[in-house]
Amino acid sequence: MAKPLNLIVACAENRVIGRAGQLPWHIAEDVAWFHERTAGHVCVLGRICFESWPGVLREGRRAVVISSQPERIRAGALERFGPDAAQWVQVAGNVPAALALAQRLPGDIMICGGQRVFEETLPLADRLLLTLVHAEVAGDVHFPEWRHLPWREAWRREGRDANYRFTIAQLESSR
Ligand SMILES: NC(=O)c1ccc[n+]([C@@H]2O[C@H](COP(=O)([O-])OP(=O)(O)OC[C@H]3O[C@@H](n4cnc5c(N)ncnc54)[C@H](OP(=O)(O)O)[C@@H]3O)[C@@H](O)[C@H]2O)c1
Repeated sequence: MAKPLNLIVACAENRVIGRAGQLPWHIAEDVAWFHERTAGHVCVLGRICFESWPGVLREGRRAVVISSQPERIRAGALERFGPDAAQWVQVAGNVPAALALAQRLPGDIMICGGQRVFEETLPLADRLLLTLVHAEVAGDVHFPEWRHLPWREAWRREGRDANYRFTIAQLESSR
């Protein structure tokens, strides 16, 4: 049986998720939640996300990187993580190939972005692990509109730090 597809994202009210290659905020509780929920699992992610996440292979994570530059990904992984990297990092040229690879690896499938990866996988998602940051922020990378789709909220918790109020929720697709 196919494993469910989980999307995990932190998104502002205006759907901004990134700015100049980085997160537009630093919310420690959200970072901890993201690390906890992806540890030991298969992270499906675009090249920029892979190259800019130093801890992508920590805590038992595997990476399935979507890129048209497999040699660049393999060489970068070897340099960053050493000779065992090939065991933990796989490359796919598009989303369907990445999902097929991820289905064959052990662990939950955690789709981590960025924009195009989310756009192509949202219609297929079984679960959305959403940190909704209650702010409108400036940015250049967006999450696709999800609010019109049919979701059932499994749980939510509210949080805040010095700068932001946010809600972390698990939404199950009722498609
Ligand atoms: N808030 C959040 O939860 C969150 C989550 C993720 C990312 N972000 C933010 O988003 C930004 C990074 O995301 P991004 O969208 O700019 O880049 P990205 O998706 O990480 O990487 C883009 C590259 O990945 C490959 N790629 C991505 N989608 C593809 C597809 N559907 N088919 C084929 N190739 C694909 C291409 O690589 P090649 O050029 O090698 O072919 C493309 O140039 C950062 O600002 C980051 O902080 C935020």
